[in-house]
Amino acid sequence: MLAILPDFRSVAYSRTTLTELMIPSYANFGGKIHGGILLSLMDKVAYTCAAKHAGNYCVTVTVDGVNFLQPVEVGELVSLMASINYVGRTSLLVGIKVTAENVRTGVMKHTNTSYFTMVAKGEDDKPTEVPGLILETRNQVRRYLEAIKRKEMKIQYADQFNNVKSNLTIEQELYKLQGERCQIGFEL
Ligand SMILES: CC(C)(COP(=O)(O)OP(=O)(O)OC[C@H]1O[C@@H](n2cnc3c(N)ncnc32)[C@H](O)[C@@H]1OP(=O)(O)O)[C@@H](O)C(=O)NCCC(=O)NCCS
Repeated sequence: MLAILPDFRSVAYSRTTLTELMIPSYANFGGKIHGGILLSLMDKVAYTCAAKHAGNYCVTVTVDGVNFLQPVEVGELVSLMASINYVGRTSLLVGIKVTAENVRTGVMKHTNTSYFTMVAKGEDDKPTEVPGLILETRNQVRRYLEAIKRKEMKIQYADQFNNVKSNLTIEQELYKLQGERCQIGFEL
């Protein structure tokens, strides 16, 4: 039998930190950590945070803002800090901050901040309602408002891009290939 969910939960209730040592088998041929290893850890911490808030299993729907700007080295301690930034009816936006620490020097790098949208699923495998979010600090209010803005902008971008795609005519846009590092290898 499933527990009865509360109407609201705080951000603190589901805040999750995952720390993992970067071992040699995680490295690519250049000796740096594979991006896929970090993505997998991010998915894991996002799931943990979302499932704790939702009180249900969750699935990953979209991932935003994944930019690996600094390499992560073997031997560094990677910490992933996740918290719920926003909740919809069945969806949750999890913000994840990733840092990598060199244990010898104590130097800490902020490698990226990304946003995972997760959806809670009920026993029937259908999206199910999640508790609301109690915002207890100004930062939590700011992140919630940012998430609303991000959602609005994503919808606008998707509409604009769909419009651009459906109106794109190769002949009209061909001049944009001048100066690009490509060649047309067939008769247009
Ligand atoms: C995501 C999924 C649950 C949506 O199912 P659906 O029947 O379309 O459900 P709904 O239309 O009711 O949407 C459910 C929620 O997902 C959100 N959602 C759906 N598509 C989305 C998208 N592309 N981006 C952001 N949110 C999205 C909706 O806004 C809604 O949120 P809300 O209830 O908070 O308003 C379904 O597509 C799914 O199960 N996908 C597979 C997920 C998975 O397996 N991930 C693991 C990686 S393989």
